[in-house]
Amino acid sequence: MHLGPCLLSREEIAETVAALAREISDDYRDRVSEESPLLLVGILKGAVVFMSDLMRELSIPVSLDFMAVSSYGASTESTGVVRILHDLDTPIEHRHVIIVEDIVDTGLTLQYLREHFKSRGPASLRVVALLDKPERRSANVAVEYVGRAIPDDFVVGYGLDWDQKYRDLPCVRIVCDDEGEGSV
Ligand code: IMP
Ligand code: MG
Repeated sequence: MHLGPCLLSREEIAETVAALAREISDDYRDRVSEESPLLLVGILKGAVVFMSDLMRELSIPVSLDFMAVSSYGASTESTGVVRILHDLDTPIEHRHVIIVEDIVDTGLTLQYLREHFKSRGPASLRVVALLDKPERRSANVAVEYVGRAIPDDFVVGYGLDWDQKYRDLPCVRIVCDDEGEGSV
């Protein structure tokens, strides 16, 4: 296994994040305030880098919370079984909530999370994902804000991992097998 060239450079990521932040700020400007900020819920650990950049580009009041779920072990395939490892600290009833995801692949994790969040009565619920692999979708789940659609390859960097490695890479790279192109 080796890492391919950058699929998304630092500059392309920064432009994508800034565009998402402008769109979200415009959509929520009249709905949130200092007293009732937009609640960004980052899905650990992959969304951490994206979320920290996104929140600094938003021009509306925000507060943060995190949730840790697990759907993968050391494998690159979703099991479809989502376990909550760490739940929210804040109640989300009557709050405007955006779930922040690194990437949507099969959509199974997000489908579970949307149902779970909806049952807690937020004022509104949307999802922002930096990356989307539409070809891989098996759950019919809404993602209101998508940074970039990418091909069906396994990618790492900018928070995304392969077996907990490579989250620190500043750009997004494809994981290649040693025969040549494509995913592991
Ligand atoms: P899904 O349930 O199949 O949509 O998978 C969602 C989660 O799997 C994402 O939040 C990521 O943590 C992880 N994931 C999916 N595709 C990739 C990838 O290409 N690289 C790294 N992590 C991925
Ligand atoms: Mg994730």
